[in-house]
Amino acid sequence: TFNLERGVGLIGAISFIAGTMIGSGIFISPQYVLLSIGSPGAALVIWACCGLIAMLGGLCYAELGTVITESGGEYIYMLRTFGKLVAFMFVFSFVAVMRPASATGLALSVSEYVVAPFYGCSPPEIVVKAVAAAVILLLSVVNCMSVRLATGVQVVSMVVKLMGLAVIIIGGAVMLFKGNTQNFDNFFEGTNVGASAIGLSFYQGLWSYDGWNTLNFLTEELKRPEVNLPRAVIIAISLVTGLYLLVNVSYLTVMTPKELVSSSAVAVTWNKVLGSWGWIMSVAAALSAFGSLNGTFFSGGRVCFVAAREGHMPDILAMAHIHRLTPSPALIFTTIVSLVVLIPGDFQTIVNFFFTAWIFYGITLAGLLYLKIKKPELPRPYKVPIILPILVLIAAVFLVLAPIVDNPQIEYLYVTLFILSGILIYIPFIYYKLCPNLLTKLTVFLQLFLEVCPVDKNV
Ligand code: ARG
Repeated sequence: TFNLERGVGLIGAISFIAGTMIGSGIFISPQYVLLSIGSPGAALVIWACCGLIAMLGGLCYAELGTVITESGGEYIYMLRTFGKLVAFMFVFSFVAVMRPASATGLALSVSEYVVAPFYGCSPPEIVVKAVAAAVILLLSVVNCMSVRLATGVQVVSMVVKLMGLAVIIIGGAVMLFKGNTQNFDNFFEGTNVGASAIGLSFYQGLWSYDGWNTLNFLTEELKRPEVNLPRAVIIAISLVTGLYLLVNVSYLTVMTPKELVSSSAVAVTWNKVLGSWGWIMSVAAALSAFGSLNGTFFSGGRVCFVAAREGHMPDILAMAHIHRLTPSPALIFTTIVSLVVLIPGDFQTIVNFFFTAWIFYGITLAGLLYLKIKKPELPRPYKVPIILPILVLIAAVFLVLAPIVDNPQIEYLYVTLFILSGILIYIPFIYYKLCPNLLTKLTVFLQLFLEVCPVDKNV
């Protein structure tokens, strides 16, 4: 048979989770969290809670990933619990909104660090976007070439970003031991306790933690997933949470809350501490977002691939290269959509991303509850107490509803309508299978051109 290889071991697995989570966020968001929540103490509490949500979510997903062993993350879990229509609406929003929003957000931040030395702080938009497009294309080529190469990029960039964060943490620790503790007086003074302040700071913080579910998209390519999936989740998410907390402590040691809130990108302000070595921070931040983009790309391609295998996307996307064993059509498709979204894209899309993502995280967790209650007999190599999915589900409901209740904006309606509009494609093309031969000729042509053929499941 012809399969994708099980080539990702524990180190690769940890790198896929931690390396996707640590991206652009930790270099930018600390100031926004502080700005919306108001006090350094409360900001640290928010960062800790975000880490807790990511960890509990990750553990729940580890159970899902070992019970339903196919790749594809939320898509496959919803398909197996709530059926085709919900799964289709997910893959439709995933491909059109969520994946491109996170990919363009990351590509744009890589690009901003890359062009900054040449243009200073206000580079022409066209240059930023062109470089971002080049970054996306580069990663697309890497991912189409080989799984091992893409895993290598993931591991190397993770090591680089760990070193970057270590520099920040050590720098802060030195200042702290020199007695620089004045910013920690009045720790909780000025805390905003409104629902919107809390919701907003969670959105900012959770963006930095997003990607905790990355490994669930590629379980079929993981060695011994029943062992490595839960293990990698626990190691990677606790590593990231610990680092994020220490980085925040360090920022608060070096800068007063006022300075932190007004600096353009916190990591770059680090120049102040490192002096003429400050550029190292920009390089680390660029590579960090680059690695996160690689993980985003790798995992995103797998969702298209699995959805095509289930008949929810054109057949060609379920094929893999005959020698390289990479799902290149799905990767190329992901690239094209990301490039299209890049043209109008900006960071604002992140809010829409969030709203959409947490709706589906919530539905997936409800699926886990359903399996636990209705199908207790399924073999479960890894099991979490039922309270965990309940807690994360409550968090998801809060995250989706808080911004609507507090500050209703028309965008949320658009996003919801967009998700529902998946039905309009589902009914004619998937349910009634209208125009079954629409793509046949194109499929045959592309199959020869790309040297790809259908693959078996690895379960
Ligand atoms: N957490 C990353 C960051 O701080 C973004 C991850 C993008 N999301 C994803 N599911 N790949 O920039």
